[in-house]
Amino acid sequence: MHQFLPFAWFQGQCVPFDEAKVSIATHALHYGTGAFGGMRAIPDPQNSNAMLLFRAERHAKRLSDSARLLLGELSEETVHIAIEAMLKANRPRKPIYLRPFFYTSDLGIAPRLHNIETDFLIYGLELGDYLSPEGVSCRISSWTRQEDRSLPLRGKISGAYITSSLAKTEAVLSGFDEALLLNSRGKVSEASGMNLFLVRDGKLITPGVDQDILEGITRASVMELAKEMGIEVIERPVDKTELFIADEVFLTGTAAKITPIRQLESTTFGKERPVMNALRQRLIEITEGRDPAYEHWVSRIDIGNE
Ligand SMILES: Cc1ncc(COP(=O)(O)O)c(C=O)c1O
Repeated sequence: MHQFLPFAWFQGQCVPFDEAKVSIATHALHYGTGAFGGMRAIPDPQNSNAMLLFRAERHAKRLSDSARLLLGELSEETVHIAIEAMLKANRPRKPIYLRPFFYTSDLGIAPRLHNIETDFLIYGLELGDYLSPEGVSCRISSWTRQEDRSLPLRGKISGAYITSSLAKTEAVLSGFDEALLLNSRGKVSEASGMNLFLVRDGKLITPGVDQDILEGITRASVMELAKEMGIEVIERPVDKTELFIADEVFLTGTAAKITPIRQLESTTFGKERPVMNALRQRLIEITEGRDPAYEHWVSRIDIGNE
């Protein structure tokens, strides 16, 4: 059972979590016409009255863009104001995950995005590791990642997660932890809620943004750090069989952070992961606010004294 934060952002203000309720006729509930974000916030190791957010501007921008893809409007400023209010109201003492959600809040039928009311909410929960940091086992999903011509994949559109849900459950029920999805061209796309990287001959390879992936913020950060660390980064289509002979394969995402794949179908990978380990170390230092060179990636939110 999740430990939800006591206050949620609902209809423009912070209210007790149990009072933030929507009608059973809510349009988005039936049609998947919503878009969400996912952000982690951790207590500042150097200041007990502050929380640290990783790349909050990027998250707010992606959510605002996602709302635009649903022909709606959600300003980045609104997202920032609500997040700050949530942190101040809840004063979390542990690492948390915030789930902002833009959705069609109108009541009633007819799938559409015009002439419709929308709203924006946020709830939060305590979140440790989403996937085991020791590594996960994956299978290639029998489900295909959607195509951008049928759904705007650059947004985190809630309806798109039916495919993620089917793929994840198929993987778990057949004895694996995670699913890797191929796109409709048969190339590797991503996992159910994470981007994918492989390392071959010391080079970092990842499917490009034209491979029906979500444009992950962790992905972009890992690529930038790798370049700075002198690791060659290549964005290109990846074939399934290439994964089996890679030196390292790992997943990235806000929930998953950087998680190694230890097994793919019946292939087990070696435990030496020098590239992934170096990147993971770097990312941890930055998210904990310990790297002055990357302070611009971290927002310190003052949550006030007790
Ligand atoms: C489908 C999908 N791909 C990739 C990611 C990773 O994105 P990010 O690093 O921005 O969390 C996520 C999670 O947000 C996701 O849901």
